[in-house]
Amino acid sequence: MLAPAGVLLDRNSELPIFEQICAAIRSRIRSGGLGSGARLPATRALAADLGVARATVVTAYEQLVAEGYLAARRGSGYRVCAMGEVELPPDVRPPPVQELTVQGPLLLEAGEPDMRLFPHGAWAKCVSRLCRTRPTDLLTGCGPFGHPQLRQAIAAHVRDWRGIAARPEQVFVTSGATEALDLCLSALASGSGTIGVEDPGFPPIRQFAEAQGHLIRDLCLDDQGAEVPTVGDGTDVVALTPSHQYPLGGAMSAGRRQSFVAWAAQSQGWIIEDDYDSEFRYAGRPIPALASVDSQGRTVYIGSFSKIFSNGLRLGYIVAPDRLVEQMRRTILRKGARASAMPQAALADFMLQGEFYRHLRRVRRVYAERHRTLIERLGRDFADVGEVVDHHAGMQVVLHLRPGLSDSKIAAEARKNGVGVDALSSFSRRAGAFNGAVLGACLNDLDEQQDALQRLRRVISSTE
Ligand SMILES: Cc1ncc(COP(=O)(O)O)c(C=O)c1O
Repeated sequence: MLAPAGVLLDRNSELPIFEQICAAIRSRIRSGGLGSGARLPATRALAADLGVARATVVTAYEQLVAEGYLAARRGSGYRVCAMGEVELPPDVRPPPVQELTVQGPLLLEAGEPDMRLFPHGAWAKCVSRLCRTRPTDLLTGCGPFGHPQLRQAIAAHVRDWRGIAARPEQVFVTSGATEALDLCLSALASGSGTIGVEDPGFPPIRQFAEAQGHLIRDLCLDDQGAEVPTVGDGTDVVALTPSHQYPLGGAMSAGRRQSFVAWAAQSQGWIIEDDYDSEFRYAGRPIPALASVDSQGRTVYIGSFSKIFSNGLRLGYIVAPDRLVEQMRRTILRKGARASAMPQAALADFMLQGEFYRHLRRVRRVYAERHRTLIERLGRDFADVGEVVDHHAGMQVVLHLRPGLSDSKIAAEARKNGVGVDALSSFSRRAGAFNGAVLGACLNDLDEQQDALQRLRRVISSTE
């Protein structure tokens, strides 16, 4: 029998009492102090001896039953199980508790919106109203293709902002544009097909294509946009950023768009239009989406809420042409829906009530000023190290560095100094084709931007 004194409780310990009891018994079994078949004290007796609730002892015993140390028999209490030849792990001490810290984005991190501008109050009202009036909508209102109301709101959004006529059934909610790209490739590319991707371009698209076993055809860029594949060269699908090339920033010309539409029609190919940040155009008229001018219905449109609303929300969408709707449904059912259900009904309400557009107009104004100032400062203070082109759009700006400077060295050094520069060369497969610093224009206010640029200036001088 286990002497109650065999369990020494430390009431100041952070370890709960039941775990202390478990640990003591476990250790006695392992050391041979309690042999196979030995009977443990009755729960009531041990509880009284230790001055703890009986339920605490029962919990400890049941935990040891679950771990295989003890067996419970009706009427005869708890006994030690035969351990056989099993090698038991040494006593594991819990690791010391460490502070869990979250590293926020670095200064000028590209693609990061400024979450200080998030409309917390209006969003909280919207979510709490929903919790009170339609609570089940938050958890079970979504099917695998997205919340019906959000699909409606997105259909209205792409019609009003991007000129795309789509019914809600053509809209599929995803966990961001990145997942949407993966889904589109799965739905569109044949098993051994070739995918045309922009070079430089968004790295995940290349990774998805490779993971799915496709060949990749690099589409180089000129001043009109990505080059069009030759009909019959085996390319089935092209993935493009026509409104705002990622990461360089230009918009594809109307003529090049038409050439892609013609290519898709002639080769029975597909165009994936990744329109990840097109709401941020700061001058001139919005450029219509390629999907809106594709009368052949061979363009699948992808949008994202990451930039206009929140990266953390993880919501994006696909607008499929009619002829692809069934295929897209099958692909999503096969791969499994990944978009979180919880925020979808709230986002739909937020959009339908106009709060979303109030927010969008506000951040667009703020980002336009930050974007313009960043371009001006780079043009003024960095003219000796590189040049910048103003595309009046998007979230990132590229400082093309002069030969002799290494973008990867500068990016690594800048990161050590708190500035989140990306090396332009890292977005390309062609060695030596690009050399630049990709900077985010939206994340920081003008003072922070100035501080970041001063640090970057020092980094560049130190690497020269
Ligand atoms: C070109 C491009 N496509 C897609 C995405 C991803 O968007 P999401 O956050 O919605 O997955 C990004 C993010 O920066 C991007 O730059």
